[in-house]
Amino acid sequence: MSVVIKVENLGKKYLISHQRPERYVALRDVITDGTKKITKKILNPQSVLPQTREEFWALRNVDFEINEGDRVGIIGRNGAGKTTVLKLLSRITEPTEGKISIKGRIASLLEVGTGFHPELTGRENIYLNGAILGMGKSEIKRKFDEIVDFADIEKFLDTPVKRYSSGMYVRLAFAVASHLEPEILIVDEVLAVGDAQFQKKSLNKMEDVSREGRTVLFVSHNMPAIETLCNRGILLDNGKILMDCDVNSAVRYYLESAMTEYNTTDLEKRVDRHGSGKIKVVGFRVLDSAFDEVKFLQSGKDYFFEISYKNNEKKPCTNVEVSFDVYDERNSRVLLFRTNFTNSNLNLSLSDGKIYCKVANLPLANGMYHFSVFLAFENIEVLDYINEIAYITVDGGDFFGTGSLGLPSHCKILHEAEWHVE
Ligand SMILES: Nc1ncnc2c1ncn2[C@@H]1O[C@H](COP(=O)(O)OP(=O)(O)O)[C@@H](O)[C@H]1O
Ligand SMILES: [Mg+2]
Repeated sequence: MSVVIKVENLGKKYLISHQRPERYVALRDVITDGTKKITKKILNPQSVLPQTREEFWALRNVDFEINEGDRVGIIGRNGAGKTTVLKLLSRITEPTEGKISIKGRIASLLEVGTGFHPELTGRENIYLNGAILGMGKSEIKRKFDEIVDFADIEKFLDTPVKRYSSGMYVRLAFAVASHLEPEILIVDEVLAVGDAQFQKKSLNKMEDVSREGRTVLFVSHNMPAIETLCNRGILLDNGKILMDCDVNSAVRYYLESAMTEYNTTDLEKRVDRHGSGKIKVVGFRVLDSAFDEVKFLQSGKDYFFEISYKNNEKKPCTNVEVSFDVYDERNSRVLLFRTNFTNSNLNLSLSDGKIYCKVANLPLANGMYHFSVFLAFENIEVLDYINEIAYITVDGGDFFGTGSLGLPSHCKILHEAEWHVE
């Protein structure tokens, strides 16, 4: 097998302000925030950013080799450096240090603004991209109808792509990148913006591409899709490679153990709490439906939140109200689970024990959350209240049961809806 990509000691340093996330404009941001606001920020960065700058290595000391025909899933948390790797390989940004050698034509699907010329029409962009990939006119012509058909943009072929909706844009970009027979296909999470049906179609197309023996690099939070499509997994964490191995091991490591965010302080010894302490929360775990402890949650799955308590009075305690609240990264309370909402206050025995809160079909979107627990006796006496008992990441899952690649991360709560037209 010949090596088609060789990366040695690769590093990318950014100069950042303390409002770093706002400076980084990805497709998903444009879609969520509306182009206008973002454009203003790009044109006028000083007006919204403080002057303080610091150096930040988004990627450092990264080495890997990719063989012809490898199908590599690049996984890792938000901010791990996945997009940065793809951008460097696609030569959209320059490395700060290190070396990249590539053999073969690359087509990459990264962000709005990469690859397409906004003033040109869909038709012109297809030809332009084909030419960039080194294809002749007749070769492109042969592929043209297939692309248009796949992207489902026939009516808009002669419209400048700047007038496309983000969905149309991504559909066309994917169709072009996957049909123009690149030797190496690179796809970032952008596919997540398409509808479920298009995502399925795209995944199938990527399977075709990889079956033809071409090299594929694919970033996604959809672990089932990564496992289906890829044979190798590279796990990035904090700009470094944590694992580079077979895809199943990488995914398992990522989901199960990798980057646990549990608060390590022993809950029993925590002093930042309120209440009489007659009953005290001493432990917290999250269990999956098989009762195995998990550190990473996935949307749409069933979980037990297990609260261990110590009964210091050694007397039974009846009618205990238990609250289990979920907060997002910004410390907004996004979900409340409370026994008094459902008339299910609990009777706790005189000994120590465990309280289980079962949540079916977890409606949390991708992100990091933390929890607080509150125990009260008959709504009068606070027994124990601790905030931030644990941090947990929700990453991936298939809440809507569609196998969709789209993992909502711009919201906190997921809910099904029905649509119709009259
Ligand atoms: N243009 C940029 N300027 C400053 N920081 C950036 C820029 N692009 C990415 N970053 C930062 O580099 C880190 C890695 O980003 P990225 O590669 O997009 O991660 P991922 O794709 O894994 O979510 C993040 O902390 C991100 O905020
Ligand atoms: Mg990314």
